[in-house]
Amino acid sequence: MDLGLDGKRVLVTGASKGIGLAIVRSFLAEGASVVATARRSTAELESTGAVFIPADLSTVDGPGRVLEAVLALDARLDVLVNNAGGGNRADGMLGDPFSGDDDAWREVFDLNLNAAVRTTRAALPALAEARGAVINISSSSARDPHTAPLPYAAAKAALNAFTRGLAEAAGRMGVRVNAVSPSATRTELLLGEDGYVAHVAAQMGLEFSDLVATLPQQVGMVTGDLIDPDEIARAVVLLASPTMPSAIGSNWTVHGGAMKSA
Ligand SMILES: NC(=O)c1ccc[n+]([C@@H]2O[C@H](COP(=O)([O-])OP(=O)(O)OC[C@H]3O[C@@H](n4cnc5c(N)ncnc54)[C@H](OP(=O)(O)O)[C@@H]3O)[C@@H](O)[C@H]2O)c1
Repeated sequence: MDLGLDGKRVLVTGASKGIGLAIVRSFLAEGASVVATARRSTAELESTGAVFIPADLSTVDGPGRVLEAVLALDARLDVLVNNAGGGNRADGMLGDPFSGDDDAWREVFDLNLNAAVRTTRAALPALAEARGAVINISSSSARDPHTAPLPYAAAKAALNAFTRGLAEAAGRMGVRVNAVSPSATRTELLLGEDGYVAHVAAQMGLEFSDLVATLPQQVGMVTGDLIDPDEIARAVVLLASPTMPSAIGSNWTVHGGAMKSA
């Protein structure tokens, strides 16, 4: 299937590993040229050949500086994927309904909401020129907030509202805005040494490996398996494709059956 992405120019944030890295590889496989950003690159990202621009997107001026660098290389930009998110404050945020102090809430919102808002704002003129697309990576926890630390779920819920609201105004400029919302996906955010599962296991006094093995079932996935990052990347590439002109303001959940509402 020709997705019409050959020769398109794509910016992927949070591109050094996990879902972002899978998204980079998928766009490259479609013939797109990719600019990747994260705080640090990785050997895996370097091996893709994508152009890398380092930045901390949770800062006020980080997103603007990335877009300056991206557009200085080439003024054209067809697709923006706001994937950077998560964060490593899970330890302070579990178990308490107001999980985390003010600084923790601010950090989580800066990374999971404000980074996408600021990056999109800086990219929108170029995206409008190209009649391009924005895809925001949200989370199923935005709609099922009990499945994640509350600040994270709340920030992703705000990202959903941002996506749907912006889709109207940007759509009139020729820019399609959509979101993809994964459930538990096999990445460091979930499975790393400092990841969500490690913190939950420590808090509940469980063996890490036992929790990983039972997690899909515990969160209600009918597949019995965590999600492969490549699956999320496939949804992103399809939403970015100009062959999907009516995909505007949608939010595709990829959840293995974990979300039980119709
Ligand atoms: N894995 C899941 O189960 C799951 C489920 C639902 C939604 N998601 C969402 O999917 C997206 C990707 O998550 P993932 O699981 O692939 O996470 P991950 O493996 O932890 O990767 C996160 C990426 O974001 C970058 N990043 C983190 N903080 C950053 C910052 N301040 N500035 C710039 N880049 C930053 C990281 O690189 P550096 O650390 O080098 O900056 C890395 O490239 C996130 O938005 C997450 O919320 C994940």
